[in-house]
Amino acid sequence: MSRNYYIAGNWKMHKTRSEAAELAKALAAQLKDGKHRYLAAPSFTLLETVAPILKGTNIRLGAQNCAAEEQGAHTGEVSVLQLKDLGVQTVILGHSERRHVYREDDALINKKVKLALSHGFEVILCIGELLEEREAGKAEQVCEVQTVKGLDGVSAADLDRVVLAYEPVWAIGTGKTATPEDADAIHGFVRRVIARLYGPAAAEKIIIQYGGSVKPENAAALMAKENIDGALVGGAALKAETFVPIAKFG
Ligand code: 13P
Repeated sequence: MSRNYYIAGNWKMHKTRSEAAELAKALAAQLKDGKHRYLAAPSFTLLETVAPILKGTNIRLGAQNCAAEEQGAHTGEVSVLQLKDLGVQTVILGHSERRHVYREDDALINKKVKLALSHGFEVILCIGELLEEREAGKAEQVCEVQTVKGLDGVSAADLDRVVLAYEPVWAIGTGKTATPEDADAIHGFVRRVIARLYGPAAAEKIIIQYGGSVKPENAAALMAKENIDGALVGGAALKAETFVPIAKFG
């Protein structure tokens, strides 16, 4: 397989500045010789602390969201210009917590995707079905709609800076991981959706991460699957002891 593995840590709403600095330093030191691509995505308030620690390392700096507008009267929002100013390279968009807790819809997510890409960011676009959608046999349909709508208007050239993350909502923070076979089936399906939209070469190239209770114990089995190209890690990304073994699987 020619795709490089890409292991990302989504720190969600955890850590103070000193805790974040400690984790970033540990990751920088322990992943120095890591073979894969890496990213850490701390909260907005931690970016300025973490940026200088990751600068010049093999760990990219990510944000967990951005506003859909460039700037203006948007109380409580954070702009791509502000993220760029801090040295952020990647923005995670459409995370299930944004979709389901904060009611972000595909149109809003698509607007953010296009804005972030237009400012040169890499985007990790998250997709994934709810438990009831999976039980109703709609997992593929949900992932297809989120992919197609999320990427609406994204050019083939810009797709080079898009990573997809399949995060079945029922597997996030629950300790329930999708089996490698079930995850791979959705990844393969989504890759075929990309092939339909952008052609087979783009589909072969695009990185599709899996997220949802990835742990040191299950990472290698997931990554061994043909269509799983990395991980978006939540809980296990909060400690170097659990993130580093995932990041150095294999
Ligand atoms: P957990 O690894 O805690 O299940 O979280 C996954 C996730 O949502 C990463 O974005």
